[in-house]
Amino acid sequence: MKIVPVKKATADSHIVFVFDEKKKDWPDFEAADDEVAICYDGDKTFILAGLGKKGDFSSHILRSQAARAMKKAAKLKRKKICIFGPDAPGEAKVNHAACLEGALLGAYSFDRHKSEKPESVKELQLTDFALSSTEVKNIQTVCDAVCFARDLVNDNAHSITPERLAREALDMADDSLKVKVLDEKMLKKEGLSLMAAVGQGSVYPPRLMVMEYSGAGPKAKKIALIGKGVTFDSGGLNLKSNEGMLTMRLDMAGAAAVLGIMKALAVLKPAVNVVGVVGAVQNAMDAKAYFPGDVYRSYAGKTVEIINTDAEGRLVLADAVAYCRKNYSPERIVDFATLTGACIIALGETVAGVISNNDNLYDEIFAAGEAVAERVWRLPLYPEHKKAMKSDIADLRNLAKFKRGYAGTITGGAFIAEFVEDTPWAHIDIAGTAFNESSARGEVPKFATGFGVRLALKWLGAY
Ligand code: BES
Ligand code: ZN
Ligand code: ZN
Repeated sequence: MKIVPVKKATADSHIVFVFDEKKKDWPDFEAADDEVAICYDGDKTFILAGLGKKGDFSSHILRSQAARAMKKAAKLKRKKICIFGPDAPGEAKVNHAACLEGALLGAYSFDRHKSEKPESVKELQLTDFALSSTEVKNIQTVCDAVCFARDLVNDNAHSITPERLAREALDMADDSLKVKVLDEKMLKKEGLSLMAAVGQGSVYPPRLMVMEYSGAGPKAKKIALIGKGVTFDSGGLNLKSNEGMLTMRLDMAGAAAVLGIMKALAVLKPAVNVVGVVGAVQNAMDAKAYFPGDVYRSYAGKTVEIINTDAEGRLVLADAVAYCRKNYSPERIVDFATLTGACIIALGETVAGVISNNDNLYDEIFAAGEAVAERVWRLPLYPEHKKAMKSDIADLRNLAKFKRGYAGTITGGAFIAEFVEDTPWAHIDIAGTAFNESSARGEVPKFATGFGVRLALKWLGAY
């Protein structure tokens, strides 16, 4: 989509934001903060987007309403749209950035499989926006990265294989992004045996990708971003139910987020050093698939008893985290993973779960999430959770000793914590937030959401 800041709109279709208090201008419009209406004046179309009461306003309302208005514009088959930057409480820059972000994210649709492609807006004119052309460009880069992550998650799992994810990483390589890929032979040779075990039942061999962005010079400390890239999670021999398997192409959403973040960093070029690591593997059920009860030695040296082949994400993360620590010595680690169904039970589809060993890091992640409306909430990690992951035959077990799924999200984190050791770390469980099974909510579409890309880029100070 072309974005053009203009003094005077030449588009005949306008998006206008309206506060509840001002509805006398549009007498039949309630201006609720989730309401969008159409109104005609001669050959002009006005898409009215309600902002609710001024006293209840936040930039998040603007973001979601801009998204709803853009969806309406596309439905009306408008090719050119003008948005008027509203005068709203708070900082104009923050409000207008959220507004543009919402408009771009709301314009997304995954239409690869649609025989009749839906209409889309081609040109977006911005009037009265308190944003410089660089700020506009940066927001577009961020939203492109979110949509790139969404596309990877939405597409068929037979297309988005570990090899394909590695190809995406290699395609991103340029002067500011160094990319390295370990194939299945190298994974075995180097001793990433947990990852290799999860992948051994699949016809699509596993890949580990390392993407290095150095925007702060060689001496500055590194931040590691790790992504779970299970391209399809059948559960393995501990096969999932029909219903549980239906959405399991989503299980590489952590990897998609990390790929999207790295892609955006290479363009935005903030002064930070980031190493992105993605463990990509398919969890298949097959004669060669790894068995429950068997024990494997991890890259870090700790042995793991496989209690359940469906708790595969933590195995992939364990090796990815250990490989990253040993070879890149990051100062802090943040991982993104669709790790546990329990997280959806605890926090639903609108809040991600966090397990962290560091209060400062958690506070920063929380603040970044609040700023971009990608909300997170912390769960505790206590010694009893770590104890529950000890095995009688090996060092660790991949499923807690607790009853059924008790504290499932925490114990998943407790397993990863064994490999993070003393590095400040935050594990973000995006099982609920990465994929929206209900209907679109403002800037959050149905299906893949791209959750985590904006949070991380905000946290890194990249936009
Ligand atoms: N990929 C799933 C978690 C998941 C479930 C993500 C639903 C998104 C939606 C993960 O690998 C898994 O299977 N977790 C099990 C863990 C259990 C076997 C300890 C779960 O959540 O049931
Ligand atoms: Zn699983
Ligand atoms: Zn999984």
